[in-house]
Amino acid sequence: MRHDSRDYEPPRIEKLPFVAYGKHADREVLSTADVTDMPDAETLVEEFGSPLFVVTESRLRDDFRRFRDAFTVPGIDTTVAYSIKTNYLPAVCATLKQEGAAAEVVSEMEYDLARALGYDGREIIFNGPHKARRALERAVAERAVVNIDGFDELNKVSQIAATLGVRARVGLRMSFKYRGVGWTKFGFNHDAGDLHLALEQVANDDHLDLELLHNHCGTFVLNHDLYTQAIRRLIEGARHARSLGLSPRGVDVGGGFPSENAIKPEYDLPGGSRRQGDFWRPYADEICSSILDARELFGGRPRLILEPGRAVVDSSTQLLTTVVAKKHADNEATSVIVDAGVNLLPTTVYYDHPLTRVSAGRESRSRGRSYDVYGPLCMQTDILRRNVAAAQIDVGDVLMVSHVGAYCHSQSMQFIETRPATVMLTDQGPVEIRRRETWRDVFALDRVPDHLRDPACRDFVRNTAVPGGPAEPPTRIDFRRRARVEEPWDRTRKAGP
Ligand SMILES: Cc1ncc(COP(=O)(O)O)c(C=O)c1O
Repeated sequence: MRHDSRDYEPPRIEKLPFVAYGKHADREVLSTADVTDMPDAETLVEEFGSPLFVVTESRLRDDFRRFRDAFTVPGIDTTVAYSIKTNYLPAVCATLKQEGAAAEVVSEMEYDLARALGYDGREIIFNGPHKARRALERAVAERAVVNIDGFDELNKVSQIAATLGVRARVGLRMSFKYRGVGWTKFGFNHDAGDLHLALEQVANDDHLDLELLHNHCGTFVLNHDLYTQAIRRLIEGARHARSLGLSPRGVDVGGGFPSENAIKPEYDLPGGSRRQGDFWRPYADEICSSILDARELFGGRPRLILEPGRAVVDSSTQLLTTVVAKKHADNEATSVIVDAGVNLLPTTVYYDHPLTRVSAGRESRSRGRSYDVYGPLCMQTDILRRNVAAAQIDVGDVLMVSHVGAYCHSQSMQFIETRPATVMLTDQGPVEIRRRETWRDVFALDRVPDHLRDPACRDFVRNTAVPGGPAEPPTRIDFRRRARVEEPWDRTRKAGP
């Protein structure tokens, strides 16, 4: 080999840009062959436009039931409190409510949504590091369980309950580090002894009823041991609570359970993880057996609350998108541009969402070319998948991006493009559950002051949302009225003795 000093390039270390993470080529073949639950994709797009979110109601119900059933065991009262932030399309939440889910909320907006959907306050678990005072007052008065996040909030809830002349139903959220890391932004730090201090404060407070000990240990947690460690600490906390004269009734282990979705290899277990069928069972076995062993700490029949998000909603929603352009970047890969971007699919950062060409016609599964699939936004970083192998993709083809039910709707944004319609496939056929946005929806809250308005500008003049426009009637809550309603636990699923 001839060495030429002029060819020599000194080695250098470069930080890979965010977009370079999708380094695993040819992970799948796009094909119509895999599409079983999207019968009329092209017709749907013709009728409701492209892109289009499609929720399959039966799949949503099935996934919820499979999850709930995995954690339903004799001797434990299990409540699945769906984590509303994961997907707060009202039709999705309403479906899960019909299935018997309670509601887990993390803000005033979500609390108001849950109540508007018909949830009784007693069926709501209120979490999160910021709970607005008004929302806390409402939650305490309406007998929601408030999972307290820290000492400031503990004092606030106690004071609210004292003012209202009630005892607040509370849980204490706990955090801990596992192998040096943890979600320590939240809750009372177990490692620092704060959980014990908080329990002691609750024991000395006449306005607080301790119902639960709570932890949410992460998201898409593939390592069961994390839950084992969490439960161990929750049970230890319950033992301390008992020693102080408190009577916790159960534990809330949060969410974090994985879905069937394809997590990017860099976030997966070494060698990959298989998540199909009954893959929640091992989590359930571990959690339920630990709680049963400690049943005497919870009055003999413990309550188990779970707050799944992605586990129950991820797989039932797909996004249909149309190829709008095709380019040859080099000999290796072809680029296609589709009409749905990362503003609708923020989860492409950590998921390799399965991608399927659903247009009728070419059925070949042969790997013709490697494709980079870009979204429509005027940004190089708007890329849905890199290096997917496909027989052929052409302009006009409809592609399906799978498992987009978690955190896509709720984290989507109107950046450059408006957001598409969503239909639900029901027994009665497709029903539009969210209409397509128009540019007017995006700018509905804006106003151009008189001195800035061009004479030709007809919009942004009068706006109902600005001071002086018709206001929403204020929500009046009679905090003192506390009708006796059934406890949410009466709706929990009981199995066996
Ligand atoms: C307190 C709490 N519960 C439940 C969830 C739902 O998590 P996941 O979607 O991972 O199940 C979250 C999400 O971060 C959360 O913060």
